[in-house]
Amino acid sequence: MRILFVCLGNICRSPAAEAVFEKLVCDAGLENRIEIDSAGTGGWHIGEQADPRMRSAARELGFKITSRGRQVTNTDFQNFDLIIAMDSSNFNNLLPLQTEDDRAKLIQFRELMTTQHIEGVPDPYYGGPEGFKEVLNILQEGCKELLNRVSSSL
Ligand code: 4NP
Repeated sequence: MRILFVCLGNICRSPAAEAVFEKLVCDAGLENRIEIDSAGTGGWHIGEQADPRMRSAARELGFKITSRGRQVTNTDFQNFDLIIAMDSSNFNNLLPLQTEDDRAKLIQFRELMTTQHIEGVPDPYYGGPEGFKEVLNILQEGCKELLNRVSSSL
């Protein structure tokens, strides 16, 4: 099972989602069954480390973000089983890349939220430190549900 998280820049939300989900998957002993990656719809931060504000907020909660920025491609739709857009804008930007015979199912992260109902994972890039914590809080809830759903289909 291969899962790709997608946001705009691939330096805040999706690399954090990748790290949060990776930890849940490892803790469940499923790291050989589930592959995880992240990408951005935009190409401004290709090759860069994640935003230092997101890396430090994640580190405080025990999550290690190691990925480097990359831009999503249409081959991602052939190579992944599930592509998870962080918000509706990311989702709308991904739709045109998808073709009929692609393997990947495309969803929005908000579909994974069970208690907190959200429009999308809010972009923390232009805001203060609280925004990064809020993103991590949302990601932890949704990623737990994701693991529930994915592990029942393995
Ligand atoms: P992300 O946040 O989509 O969560 O990685 C952003 C990062 C960078 C930019 C926008 C959003 N940017 O415009 O460079």
